Amino acid sequence: MAALDWDGWTLHVAKLARLREQEDIAQWIDVAAGPDAIVAINASFTVHTSTRPASLAAELRNRGFRRGEKMEAKGGGRHRIEVSLAAAFVQLFQVKPTRSLRGLLPRLPVSELRGIPADQLDAVLCAYLAAHWWFWGRARNDVLGDSKTGYIVVPQRHTPESKLADLREEYKGEPFDESHLDADPMLQFQKWFSEARTAAIHEPNAMTLATAAKDGQPSARIVLLKDVKENNFVFYTNYGSRKGRELAANPRAALVYYWPELGRQVRITGRVKKTTRAESERYFHTRPRGAQLGAWASRQSSIIADRGTLERRTQKLDAKYAGKPIPLPPDWGGYRLYPDSIEFWQGRLNRLHDRLRYMKERGGRWKIERLAP
Ligand SMILES: Cc1cc2nc3c(=O)[nH]c(=O)nc-3n(C[C@H](O)[C@H](O)[C@H](O)COP(=O)(O)O)c2cc1C
Repeated sequence: MAALDWDGWTLHVAKLARLREQEDIAQWIDVAAGPDAIVAINASFTVHTSTRPASLAAELRNRGFRRGEKMEAKGGGRHRIEVSLAAAFVQLFQVKPTRSLRGLLPRLPVSELRGIPADQLDAVLCAYLAAHWWFWGRARNDVLGDSKTGYIVVPQRHTPESKLADLREEYKGEPFDESHLDADPMLQFQKWFSEARTAAIHEPNAMTLATAAKDGQPSARIVLLKDVKENNFVFYTNYGSRKGRELAANPRAALVYYWPELGRQVRITGRVKKTTRAESERYFHTRPRGAQLGAWASRQSSIIADRGTLERRTQKLDAKYAGKPIPLPPDWGGYRLYPDSIEFWQGRLNRLHDRLRYMKERGGRWKIERLAP
């Protein structure tokens, strides 16, 4: 048997045990399973003992678990789950809902699996599977069986053969309405950004930057957000690059974030201004030496003969600046994007998403409007 604990974004193996008697199992659950635990029971559900011939399921029900008939009505609720491995089914029991876990994926660090005895690894993986079910529900799992026989939960996999048109997610974010909004969109952004960081999203600061050439042709690419001030977003790049040239001709730009684990998107439009050279210098010198050399070696967006050209140039620069600080290249630096609109998009069920947009009015006030999804 295995109990996994949930700390907000990762599952941890909390307790492992080899128990046969129903009484022992029930007691162990009392001790091992806090309100946030996911428990795998590596034994049949109906364990008859001399003292108490009731089924373990009934025993668990007495201890506050509810049978899995309610599993469709999961909503945003919290589940305590037992997994019966021997019977190869998963039983779910609903406990009181909590709202603190929205948008987070159950992750089980591989390092925790090392050192677990082989005969208990199954129980851990089974509990993990239950967590997968608990988080994704039917949207991402095939569920076989019923509440009488129990359930087999099989996580769906999207194979390369599956049709592109069939790739779709159900977004199950919590309601996001006007009452949740800060009057200042930058503070609202900071809030969502910090939630994206807490959710351990990989590179939450990666954003799509769209620019447009003078003739109206748009182009987009990913850049990294490096700072947020009270009224602007900062990123760094090469001023001679395609984006740099486009921004010189047309300072209007757009930024887009997508944080899939939270089912959220943020869209920003505005105008850019270059950071001062002193600011760019300060940031440039925080970059690793290799990245500093790279900024000198690469005339970003220009055509080069081959990779060797780039590597030889970097080697030369490496030798030139050996033991010395690397100066800021003249065509490298930052931009601040000053927003005139920011839209917060929260994915919801059935594509009825929440979209709330701030528009800057004359005088600098922000007007908030809801848009149809
Ligand atoms: C995750 C990620 C982060 C990136 N961050 C930056 C960045 O901060 N600055 C930058 O100039 N390019 C960054 N790039 C590279 C750009 O996407 C792009 O290739 C490059 O800036 C040239 O774009 P351009 O030719 O349109 O100017 C990043 C790419 C990725 C995938």
